[in-house]
Amino acid sequence: MVEWSDSERSAIAGVWGKLNVGDIGPQALGRVLIVYPWTQRYFGTFGDLSSAAAILGNPKVANHGKTVLGALDKAVKNLDDIKATYSQLSQLHCDKLNVDPDNFRLLADCLTIVVATALGAGFNPSIQATWQKFLSVVVAALSSRYF
Ligand code: HEM
Repeated sequence: MVEWSDSERSAIAGVWGKLNVGDIGPQALGRVLIVYPWTQRYFGTFGDLSSAAAILGNPKVANHGKTVLGALDKAVKNLDDIKATYSQLSQLHCDKLNVDPDNFRLLADCLTIVVATALGAGFNPSIQATWQKFLSVVVAALSSRYF
């Protein structure tokens, strides 16, 4: 069971409150697809992913980026039970979508870079440490039904 101090809880809520899901989600998913091109194989129905410009201008990527970030809102609101919160989503990615769970970490890393760019100096090392702890718990929860 993960423990969260009051300052960690307020750091996560603070970062989350500053993010625009409509911007950050598409940028994070787009970055994963550009930096780790093998992840494109899961999105065969998304149309043109042939270049960085095509990915960043692809409305399906943008929509799905918003969906992914929208799902993170549930983790922010259920910090004490992220594993149960993501049980069904983990099962979906494992059994139906067959997503290799290593990719969750790649998405988390891209998301951190996008968040750092958006928040600038406000995303200081101690805030980053807490944010990455949060994403590690999310990644573990999404991976939980694989094993
Ligand atoms: C923080 C990590 C992630 C979260 C929170 C997340 C969340 C979601 C959500 C909420 C859905 C929609 C589920 C539904 O329709 O019921 C979804 C679908 C999907 N996810 Fe993830 N996901 C994550 C990471 C990934 C990664 C890393 C990949 C692959 C590289 C991936 C591939 C997919 C695919 C292929 C779909 C179905 C898309 C479609 O055809 O509409 N996900 N994800």
